[in-house]
Formats: sequence, structure tokens, C-alpha cells
Amino acid sequence: RCHAVILAGGSGTRLWPLSRALFPKQLLALNGELTLLQQTVKRALDIFPPQRIHIVTNEEHVFEVRAQAKALDAALEDNVLAEPMIRNTLPALMLGLNAAMKQDAAPLLAVFPSDHMIHNAASWQRAVQAGAELAAQNHFVTFGIPPAHPETGYGYIHRGARIADGCYAVEGFVEKPPREKAEEFLRGGMHFWNSGMFVFNGEDLIAALETYQPALAAWWNTRTATSLRQGYSAIPSLSIDYGIMEHVSRIAVVEADFGWDDLGSWEAIFRLGEKDEQGCVVQGDAMAIDCENSLLLSRGGKLAAIGLKDVIAVQTRDATLLCAKDQVQRVREVVSRLKAEG
Ligand code: GDD
Ligand code: MG
Repeated sequence: RCHAVILAGGSGTRLWPLSRALFPKQLLALNGELTLLQQTVKRALDIFPPQRIHIVTNEEHVFEVRAQAKALDAALEDNVLAEPMIRNTLPALMLGLNAAMKQDAAPLLAVFPSDHMIHNAASWQRAVQAGAELAAQNHFVTFGIPPAHPETGYGYIHRGARIADGCYAVEGFVEKPPREKAEEFLRGGMHFWNSGMFVFNGEDLIAALETYQPALAAWWNTRTATSLRQGYSAIPSLSIDYGIMEHVSRIAVVEADFGWDDLGSWEAIFRLGEKDEQGCVVQGDAMAIDCENSLLLSRGGKLAAIGLKDVIAVQTRDATLLCAKDQVQRVREVVSRLKAEG
């Protein structure tokens, strides 16, 4: 009775100009032949039958998402759910739950973001299995990554008492803490990063929605009379992390030993890319002469760089990014500015 819900609606603004409104990062092949979405779907197909995999995305991307899913398994074509407008991950999850409940009255839901790399599929499968068992015992299940630096873009999970091998009760969940908090969590040694994957018991999720998000619960309760797509514009925009995880008490964490990377920024693409002798990642139609520790990537025309150090250069057919390597988090400022300029 466990279903997979794949979240494929993010925008990936920090990977501009490769990632665009119409082509967000999960739909791109950034690290191999398959796109990030396809890698996620492929992993899910190893443990879930296709009819129990539900992919949720924005209406704008349905066509492309469907094509990418179908290329892996024709049966997935009908399992792509469209959100009429962007309302973040919690409403998207509820669309997935609704689809799952058409097959199973009381499903478990394994939630997978589509912007990650998982390095060890076998141990990932074991972790998901362990998570499903905990969710069956009414835990809200998270997967914890040992933190490597005081990242402020992730959720933090406060580890409590041991429940089973590699599984712990959770004392608290804090989404995207300020820098000082993140540093404190790192020093204390009791926190994991939240991987963004979850396993929920559908009934527990609905109960939590009733308690903590009454506006969303009211919308959810209309589903027998109308389609959930109706009324979508009126519901609040809310993530699973802020909307559910920061409130509920029965959280468990499965320690993730499967090797995890968030491909959120150009720094990650650089870090995971294959380096030449000068420590440069050179991809596509790009050339580096005496450059060091830089990423040079072109998907549109020749890009040549000489004598550069610590630079990110990304060229597409109609846009180019030149960025100091220690400022990659600021790429989203470009997107905000472009939006403001219309
Ligand atoms: N369908 C749909 N609709 N999917 C969405 C939407 C939406 O409106 N918004 C985001 N997503 C997808 C993204 O494509 C991604 O795969 C996943 O949902 C998570 O959304 P992000 O926007 O990437 O979240 P985040 O990175 O800020 O934070 C989450 O992930 C971190 C780890 O990478 C949180 O769960 C953090 O706690 C976590 O540490
Ligand atoms: Mg993300």
C-alpha cells in the first residue's frame, strides 16, 4: 500500500541560465544522460510498480514531464498530475495523496524531490523500506543526512532516542534556520540535514492538515464534490516542511547512508563534475586554456576562457552567466531582477 509521490515542480533559479522558467533543473540532464527527474523516477521504479508512482508538476511542465516519464515506462504516462498554479509542495503532495487514495483507501506515501543525486541505490532502497515500516507505525518519517557545513538552505532534524537500527525519534524539525542557528546545530552534533524525502501515513497527514492547516484541510475536504484543481488558486502556498514538519510531534528519522547531493547550485555541479588537471570542469562547447578551479559550460556556441581562476561561466543560446565561484548563491538575484524588469 505504499505509493511514491515525486515532486517535480520547482524552478531551480540558482542554476540560471541553464535552468529557465520553462525548463527547470529537474528536467535537465546535468550529470549524465538522464535528467534529474528521470533518475528519480528510475529509482522509484525499482521498488514501486508504475501505477503506484505519481508525479506532480506545474501545468506548464506537464507535457515535458510526461514525455520524460514515458521514456522510462509507458505506463507512467497517465500518472502525471498537474497543478493549475504554483502553491508549493504541500498542496502538490495532497494531489498525490488523492491519486493514491483512488487505489488504496489508506495508503502510505513516500515523497521524493526530483532535484537530488543518490549515489547508492541499494542502500537508498533499504532506507525507504525502513521508512515505510516506521510510517506504518504512524511516524512522520524523514531521512537525515550528516551535515557537512552550516547550510541555511536546508531543514534540520534534531535526533532523539534510538528506535531501531539507524532509526531515531526526532525532538524537533527546523526548516531553513538562520546562520547562527545552523552553526549551533552543526557544533552540537545532534542534528541531521533533512534530505527532502519523506514517508507519511496518509491518514496521519490528513489529521495533521486538519490540526495545523485548516485552510488546506477545508480545500481537501471538497474533493468528493469537486476536483481538487478547482479552488487551487485560493489555497495558501505552503511547503511540506513549514506546513507539516515544523508542527507535528511523532517524527522519526532514518539515517541516510546512501550518499546524497542536492544539485541546487553551480557549486554542486562543479563539485560533482569531472575535473581536468587544472581542476576545471569543462562541458559542452567550451574550451579552457590555463584556467584553474573553474566551471566552463556551453550549450550554445563556442565558449573559450584563458587564464581564469575560480570562475563559473555558463553559456546558452541566448544568455551567459559569469560569476565568481564564491558567489554562486547569488545567481537567484539575476532571476529576481530579470523578473522585475519583465
Ligand atoms: N509539484 C511541485 N510543485 N513540486 C515542487 C513545487 C511545487 O510547487 N515546489 C518545489 N517542488 C519540488 C522541487 O522540484 C523539488 O524537487 C522539491 O519539490 C523540493 O522543493 P525545493 O524548492 O527544492 O525545496 P528546498 O530545496 O528549498 O527545501 C527542501 O529540500 C531540502 C533538501 O534539498 C526541504 O525539504 C528542506 O528541508 C531540505 O533540506
Ligand atoms: Mg531543493
